[in-house]
Amino acid sequence: MIKSEPSRRTFLARVVVALNALVAMVMATPAVGYLLSPLLKRRSNQWVAIGKASKFVAGIPQRMTFEYDDEAGYSVERTRRVAFVGHSENELIVLSPVCTHMGCNVAFNGTTSLFECPCHGGKYDMSGRVVDGPPPEPLRRFQTRVRDGNLEIQIT
Ligand code: FES
Repeated sequence: MIKSEPSRRTFLARVVVALNALVAMVMATPAVGYLLSPLLKRRSNQWVAIGKASKFVAGIPQRMTFEYDDEAGYSVERTRRVAFVGHSENELIVLSPVCTHMGCNVAFNGTTSLFECPCHGGKYDMSGRVVDGPPPEPLRRFQTRVRDGNLEIQIT
């Protein structure tokens, strides 16, 4: 069997095709990265103002509703959430109302001064610590800061 060698013309044509493919890959990489970057981007930890800091005085935790734009990939969705603003050891704290057992929303009972979960009887003190029932962890505590007199919480 006689094996024919590629001609010089065939060899050069293959080199040109290979170089074209390389150039196309180099040019396409930034474009693909640009198109996919919103999908790969982590959600920003945005700060959301939930009210004037001066109105949150010590006492019964206040249930606050707030809204923000939740960005995920290419979509931006207006989201409404709830938080409890209270005090613990003279410090302003903001707690999530979501029970850490199975995700029901807790309510504050002014008589017992406890956050109580209606689903399985979980109870938390005013600092969010578990005092009774099945919840495995304290209520989630938002990071807070005061900017221009507004109490802001960090959404992660
Ligand atoms: S979901 Fe709250 S105690 Fe079970």
